[in-house]
Amino acid sequence: MGSSPNASAVTGAFSYTGAYIARALLERNEQVITLSRRPDPGHPLSARVRFARLQFEDADALAAALKGAHTLYNTYWIRFPRRGVTFSSAVANIRVLLRAAARAEVRRIVHISVSNPAEDSALDYFRHKALAERAVAESGLSFAVVRPTLIFGREDILLHNIAWSLRRFPLWTIPGDGRYRIQPVAAEDVARLALEVAAGDEGLTIDAAGTETLPFEALVRLIARAVGSRARLVHAPPAVARALANLVATTHRDIMLTRQELTGLQQELLVSHHRPRGRVSFTAWVAQHGHQLGARYVSERARNWSTAPR
Ligand SMILES: NC(=O)c1ccc[n+]([C@@H]2O[C@H](COP(=O)([O-])OP(=O)(O)OC[C@H]3O[C@@H](n4cnc5c(N)ncnc54)[C@H](OP(=O)(O)O)[C@@H]3O)[C@@H](O)[C@H]2O)c1
Repeated sequence: MGSSPNASAVTGAFSYTGAYIARALLERNEQVITLSRRPDPGHPLSARVRFARLQFEDADALAAALKGAHTLYNTYWIRFPRRGVTFSSAVANIRVLLRAAARAEVRRIVHISVSNPAEDSALDYFRHKALAERAVAESGLSFAVVRPTLIFGREDILLHNIAWSLRRFPLWTIPGDGRYRIQPVAAEDVARLALEVAAGDEGLTIDAAGTETLPFEALVRLIARAVGSRARLVHAPPAVARALANLVATTHRDIMLTRQELTGLQQELLVSHHRPRGRVSFTAWVAQHGHQLGARYVSERARNWSTAPR
């Protein structure tokens, strides 16, 4: 493929959001370089993207991998701290990536963040997302930040596991009153918006949020209906509901929901305060994908913390 000026680099083209971005770029006949932790020969995009290793120890190798890319789409992040990798080290890794992009003369960075990040947030995830955004803004690169709410798509983890447990158990515990709202956005909408903001030159930050804002309980009921669940929904104190979800997840040596994620959900941090830019209806999507939603448990630990080949 060589170092073509027509290339875009994407972190995670074999993973979730990055795959949607890579696919959208390929549809435009762009050349795509992926930075991923390991190759994935079985991935449908594998033959169409150039692989380079996503690692932060060798800045020279990272800069070499980015050579020839005019734009870098960064999806890199960790969902929770583990094995000595903290949110703070994830921000430091993003700084390494940004410096490598600058050395490789990447023209623009499109950084995927999250809705409602804040440097004064009590939640580590949202606070460090704000610090990562600051690193992007201070990088000297032309930048755009896309802030998604909850991203839905066939490869999502959280909604799948809600569906999986709704299929499997006779009771399902809603944390708290379940009235806190959420505004999911389709992965293809996030990808479309990422490509749109890549086009400009100005420093830009936008939310990526879907057309529907619904109470969490309504979201669970939609999923239950779509997967034909007969589970009875009951309310429980948030800590109890989360403990139960994670007890179930331990059978897969996983964590279904972190305390911070649940708090963020209850604080409605996955709701945008701007006009929705998503197009895909969550309700229609769930109804359409009910047959496959939650057919199996999807483990965050197996997907994102295992070193085994894909
Ligand atoms: N999923 C959502 O609902 C959601 C909602 C709001 C915001 N976001 C944000 O959107 C971005 C993409 O999220 P995503 O869910 O699509 O993530 P993802 O595809 O699972 O992972 C994104 C990238 O981070 C890397 N990564 C993930 N976990 C890692 C770990 N433990 N150690 C090292 N690298 C790791 C992946 O590496 P590989 O390429 O090697 O897999 C991939 O390049 C993130 O910034 C996330 O915070 C996601």
